[in-house]
Amino acid sequence: MTTHAQELERYRAQTRKSYELYLRAEKVLPLGVSSNFRTFEPYPIYIERAQGSKMYDRDGTEYTDFSLCFGALMVGHSHPVMVEALSKAVSEGTLYGMPHDREVRGAELLSERFGVDQIRFTNSGSESTMHALRAARAFTGRDKVLKFEGGYHGGHDTVLVSVKPPGPKVGHPRHPKPLAVGHGIPDASISNTLVATFNDAKGVRDLLEAHENEVAAIILEPVMMNVGVMVPRDGFLQELRSLCDEFGCLLIFDEVKTGAKLAWGGAQEFFKVKADVVCLAKAIGGGLPLGAFGARREIMDEIASFRSFHAGTYASNPLATTACIVALDKILTKDVFPRTRALGDALAEGHNKIIKKHGLNACAVNVGSNGTVFWRKKPPTNYREWLDQDFDTFWRYWHMNLNRGVIPQAQCYDEQWTVSALHTEADVERMLSVFEEIAREIS
Ligand SMILES: Cc1ncc(COP(=O)(O)O)c(C=O)c1O
Repeated sequence: MTTHAQELERYRAQTRKSYELYLRAEKVLPLGVSSNFRTFEPYPIYIERAQGSKMYDRDGTEYTDFSLCFGALMVGHSHPVMVEALSKAVSEGTLYGMPHDREVRGAELLSERFGVDQIRFTNSGSESTMHALRAARAFTGRDKVLKFEGGYHGGHDTVLVSVKPPGPKVGHPRHPKPLAVGHGIPDASISNTLVATFNDAKGVRDLLEAHENEVAAIILEPVMMNVGVMVPRDGFLQELRSLCDEFGCLLIFDEVKTGAKLAWGGAQEFFKVKADVVCLAKAIGGGLPLGAFGARREIMDEIASFRSFHAGTYASNPLATTACIVALDKILTKDVFPRTRALGDALAEGHNKIIKKHGLNACAVNVGSNGTVFWRKKPPTNYREWLDQDFDTFWRYWHMNLNRGVIPQAQCYDEQWTVSALHTEADVERMLSVFEEIAREIS
């Protein structure tokens, strides 16, 4: 049996070149990384290149990659069709600051797929939710926004509330206390963000009644994917739809992680619930930095009429919109989703069999191509339940996977695996055989 300490020793021995780069990096980059989510103990692996379902680090180790940049690379790494299109596009100019045909085609594809009249491009998921919320506030003439405890919608003040609040401070489970993520978020901003419990429609109703005519929008990840993979209970999304209609607020689906991943048309298609506003990023950019938000014309008119601000130097960048067209039109086509879903189902079933065989205090859950192992017996249904699991075992599992050439999901216990268009059954088998070894050790 290997202990976690021994696995960490093995990790250090296998990642010497990453460590050298880390020592340089931490001098010029806080934590040695460019996004806080990328760090982990004792230091991260630094990547040299990626191809298909594989990534290679500085030490030359090959990893079967189920993180895919936090699920952004649904198209897979360097898909040949993408490489060809981008190589051509790069020679035709990388930035115009003027409109062009690719943004028009990209917008047509997105509006058809996500059932919205109009979209605006952004550069990230954070920008998408920020602009969507501003448009919702302009449209309704209301300031408050309702989000769910444990939900992540990017790095701006309105939504950096109750993302991972620490256990003892979070208030009553039916009435979570809004808590800022770190310092630097003004109290005035927090007071405009109401926080409810996922899967608790009654709690949402209570808040909407207490703040009648004040709430501009409910924003949520239809499947909470910043706490693993937390699925809405049957009817919950429909109940939110009705509550929004009753109280005159907009339903915003943050589909940054579900759009063009959960199904061809994302969570709206999967759950058959229509949102008023859809926020997108990750998969729609085909690996380039691209986001978008869209809605019916009446809401997007807030922007057309200049009542609500939206602009951006890099919005609809020609390379990113080329990647978007290729991703949507050529790679993430309707026939891909049954295949990625089947591989995702096989991963979850395979994990659950191994968990049962070794009597682990864990369970695997997936929706479509996304899944995760929770280190508790039953899948959590809200943030409080999610907090109640064995995170130490996650870290042991994480390092054991890396040491054996598998990146099982994005780094940290709140993430999930993604099966891309380029993953194969062999990749699934590889992950499961490594998990079998890990489960034996952990049990
Ligand atoms: C659901 C959700 N919304 C928004 C964001 C923010 O996206 P970005 O990191 O592109 O700003 C993320 C990032 O992971 C996300 O998962």
